[in-house]
Amino acid sequence: MLDNPMIVPAGLVHAEILAELHARAFADPALSGPAWPASAFASLLATPGTAGFILTVQGTPLALSLWRHVLDEGELLTLGTDPAAQGKGGGKALLRQGLSYLAQQGVTRCFLEVAVTNTAAIGLYALCGFQSAGQRRGYYQHGGQSIDANVMAIDLDLE
Ligand SMILES: CC(C)(COP(=O)(O)OP(=O)(O)OC[C@H]1O[C@@H](n2cnc3c(N)ncnc32)[C@H](O)[C@@H]1OP(=O)(O)O)[C@@H](O)C(=O)NCCC(=O)NCCS
Repeated sequence: MLDNPMIVPAGLVHAEILAELHARAFADPALSGPAWPASAFASLLATPGTAGFILTVQGTPLALSLWRHVLDEGELLTLGTDPAAQGKGGGKALLRQGLSYLAQQGVTRCFLEVAVTNTAAIGLYALCGFQSAGQRRGYYQHGGQSIDANVMAIDLDLE
């Protein structure tokens, strides 16, 4: 388990840190396609209804999450943990905190897409209460390969 992790809101000034963390977590491009540059994080964070969070241990950023919500519907845009810190509860902590944040914003249902091959992430989402809500064919494209996505959803009013 991580030693005294803290979760802090991410602002525009954190775009670089988010991009670096994302690149480390998603070193395997089959998990979510090409890396997201800092400019992508900056533009997402400048969009109303988007919120990002960084999990740190003793000031070192180890995991990130990015969420979007419109009215009562939310979406997990990305979630990743530095490979050196995986399997220590960081992803679960960020996921639970983000869902609680969305519920406070009035969100009642949250969706996400995850590659059907991503067993670690699917395990985490199921553990936290997400259920399968369908599939998107060829959602991820990588190296001429097409990977389907599971759509998963959770009702936050049942939390
Ligand atoms: C998916 C990911 C975010 C999980 O983060 P993490 O910090 O390692 O997760 P946690 O340590 O909090 O694990 C929580 C639960 O997730 C599941 N899980 C995590 N890693 C797993 C693995 N390799 N295999 C199966 N289940 C796994 C387990 O249910 C685990 O609970 P347990 O420890 O009680 O068994 C991380 O593996 C990651 O960053 N992967 C690359 C990026 C990615 O795929 N992001 C999701 C895109 S949709």
